[in-house]
Amino acid sequence: MKVAVFNTKRYDRENLAQIAGHELTFIDAHLNAQTAPLAAGFEAVCCFVNDVLSEPVLMQLSAAGVRMVAMRCAGFNNVDVAAAKHLGIAVCRVPEYSPYAVAEFATALILDLNRRMRRAYNRMREQDYSLDGLLGFDLHGKTVGIVGSGKIGCAFARIMQGFGCRLLVSDPYPNDTMAAMAEYVPREQLWQEADIISLHCPLLESTHHLINADSIAQMKPGVMLINTSRGGLIDTRAVIDGLKTGQVGYLGIDVYEEEADLFFEDKSDAILQDDVFARLFTFANVIVTGHQGFFTREALAQIARVTGENLDAFASGERSGPTFVT
Ligand code: NAI
Repeated sequence: MKVAVFNTKRYDRENLAQIAGHELTFIDAHLNAQTAPLAAGFEAVCCFVNDVLSEPVLMQLSAAGVRMVAMRCAGFNNVDVAAAKHLGIAVCRVPEYSPYAVAEFATALILDLNRRMRRAYNRMREQDYSLDGLLGFDLHGKTVGIVGSGKIGCAFARIMQGFGCRLLVSDPYPNDTMAAMAEYVPREQLWQEADIISLHCPLLESTHHLINADSIAQMKPGVMLINTSRGGLIDTRAVIDGLKTGQVGYLGIDVYEEEADLFFEDKSDAILQDDVFARLFTFANVIVTGHQGFFTREALAQIARVTGENLDAFASGERSGPTFVT
């Protein structure tokens, strides 16, 4: 198949170039209403988390002859699935590439926030060997609340179990793997009892702003919030209010609700226009990274492998399966 691969960086090209049996054309631009005409003459487009696959864009793709969208990521909240279905465009994704990559990254955020690694390192560079302001806490014995007990949630639970933490989990669809490690509790109980809360559920209408003023008010004072899932799960303004009062003691985020126009690009020469995002950088107890949880060698190789399999499956007439969204 002829595939237009949008929004590609050097590291994407290196991995996706391994896909055999299809003609891949790498395009730097993000997919959106302005760039959709670039898909003319291609049967498939391959996209990422920050491409726009709204109904108008899908209509343009359909008119251009595109019959398949191969998402090279797990989440597909940026795809209007109903519109794709209506237009007869198949949507595939890579449901699992490395749950360990994201779970380990969530752990890195926790350890950095708790033990103040950045602050300690910067002090050393200044020949400041004082310990004031670097006080952490033992993870051992703390209660960790996990929202979402899928592949990443389970991988994260295993790590936290290793630290000797008590694990609470909230998920409308419990599974045995998690049940063997953690106690399923109502969401309110998790808010009230957890010292650390880590989000591992998808962004849906029902999970949008799951962390908001109301849920924050129910949490333990000084709670640590970790989000490596999707930015929209957190009402950033409410968390900033919580940080200002100390109700939120630590915030570690790899995703941000308005990240689409910010992340994955070098914007170091631009003036940051997002005042809410800018405010986050004024807190010593906040760490923000740019959606890099997935970014390991193993994950990129797996993404390329499964994307290749998805293209093969569609080319050979398959229209359903575990990786097909529509
Ligand atoms: P998964 O599909 O294996 O698990 C998601 C779990 O969330 C399921 O058990 C589901 O029942 C649960 N869930 C659904 N609604 C819920 C709710 N209202 N409350 C609590 N749980 C709910 O997905 P996986 O692979 O574990 O990924 C989780 C999320 O991580 C993805 O949706 C994606 O947004 C994010 N992600 C982030 C990456 C990054 O680079 N930062 C990379 C990959 C995924």
